[in-house]
Amino acid sequence: MLLGLLATAFAIGLSWIVLTVVRNRATVAKLKKLLPHFNAVPSLPVIGSSYHIKDPTPEGIFAAFTGFHRSYGRNLFTEGLFNTPSVQIIDPKVIEQVVQARTIEKTLIYEFMVPWLGTGLVVSTGSKWAQRRKVITPTFHFKILEDFLVIMNRQADVFIDKLAPNVDGPNFDIYEHVTYCALDIISESAMGVKLNTQLQPNAEYVKAVKEISEIILKRIFSLGREFKWTFLFTEAYRRQKRLLKVVHGFADRVISERKKQLEDEREQQRAQEQIEETDVYGKRRMTLLDLLLNVTVDGKPLSNNDIREEVDTFMFAGHDTTTSCISFAAYHLSRNPEIQQKVYEEIQQIVGSDAKRAELTYGTLQELKYLEMVIKETLRMKPSVPIIGRRSAGDMVIDGVTIPAGIDFGIIIYALHNDPELYPEPERFDPERFSDEAAAQRQPYSYIPFSVGSRNCIGQRYAMLEIKTILVKLLANYRLLPCEESNALRIKTDMTLKPVQGAFVKIISR
Ligand code: HEM
Repeated sequence: MLLGLLATAFAIGLSWIVLTVVRNRATVAKLKKLLPHFNAVPSLPVIGSSYHIKDPTPEGIFAAFTGFHRSYGRNLFTEGLFNTPSVQIIDPKVIEQVVQARTIEKTLIYEFMVPWLGTGLVVSTGSKWAQRRKVITPTFHFKILEDFLVIMNRQADVFIDKLAPNVDGPNFDIYEHVTYCALDIISESAMGVKLNTQLQPNAEYVKAVKEISEIILKRIFSLGREFKWTFLFTEAYRRQKRLLKVVHGFADRVISERKKQLEDEREQQRAQEQIEETDVYGKRRMTLLDLLLNVTVDGKPLSNNDIREEVDTFMFAGHDTTTSCISFAAYHLSRNPEIQQKVYEEIQQIVGSDAKRAELTYGTLQELKYLEMVIKETLRMKPSVPIIGRRSAGDMVIDGVTIPAGIDFGIIIYALHNDPELYPEPERFDPERFSDEAAAQRQPYSYIPFSVGSRNCIGQRYAMLEIKTILVKLLANYRLLPCEESNALRIKTDMTLKPVQGAFVKIISR
């Protein structure tokens, strides 16, 4: 009896696998016919293209995926487990057509973020995304950015002090220090909360965020990632549930407290009948949270859950990304003394001799043109968001061909930015690639660190201010020297590009 049941289950399972493989291979064959100028990464039945991955670590998997383009071409079909098809692209002309598709849908990997970020701005689509983008955009008005700059300056000063014990010492990992600084900046600008992780790096919230990112990374690169339900039976799922309680609990507490504070202030104002409703923040800095607590969509205020998913989204999108860029810039500058010297001279000339502690303003930072070229070159070589995804919704047209609905496209920004035809000697750190003249020659859609189109990065101006502020203070205070070769930079990715072991540099005082 039991044997019979097992045999039936086995037969059903096997038939399902055979049917899935046949159906998926038929889809790939159809795509190849539609787009004959795209190449296919060789694949085998059932395991797809995954057998090319010889090193199953995150570093090895990332290298294999990005390396496909060197071996097989710019636009590729790949196959996952049970031959699930997807398309990987780095051809600027194709990228343009994919990102400009009328209906925007995101791919499977974004779904792994939903338990944490809900359907906040990064993940949401359609009318929900459009409404939210509209109400959140004013947070990045330059008047408010100027206020955020006060926070950035203050936290960057703490960062400089925290690095002091490393002066004249052995090489150390700057990435970790930058992470805490960036977290303190984003938590104060998004929520008005001083997390103080630079001073107390072991906070429960910080550890939980780090661990959730690691769980998501494992899911993104798991062979069976298409079969989402299998995650429910893992220890990682139970762990994630516990971590989410910490992260969501924290955001919920902040939201409730701030809501109450705002209500109290309004009460006081009404009693005084002095200040108009629009001045509700008084002298206090405007935060994303304040804005969300005050908006209405279709005449209704946002619920606590609505607000939390946006706050969580900004906490995530607003710190890992800038951290990578700042750390990688420091690393490359440490190995390119002439470029570092040029940035230093620009800082001395524009900020002045008190650059070490000067309060940097919006205007001053705008003038640091060479520093900006250095940042752009860092984001070329090491884009903080190395891969983005789009799913065809039935109205995506590539080279005159309508792509069937439901096909996942990976835009491999990292491979695009390191394509030797677009950037000769891509491994050479050369900010001159971003001089006005060189930029004018560049093919459209060949440099997209902040993505392009309607779903581009809403925080890019904020990011540039933060990156510049921290780099100016870092370079004004310390000379960066290269690390030991055994600690040379190696990279991997989850949702953002990260060093495998750390971004190591040495520092001496200026
Ligand atoms: C160097 C720093 C940064 C880089 C390279 C970067 C890059 C990107 C990219 C490539 C996207 C598109 C993602 C996709 O389509 O999946 C994106 C979206 C987004 N970024 Fe950034 N980002 C940076 C910093 C920031 C900061 C500081 C914030 C917030 C303060 C932020 C908030 C967001 C949000 C909310 C979205 C979703 C926008 C939408 O879909 O409407 N980013 N970013």
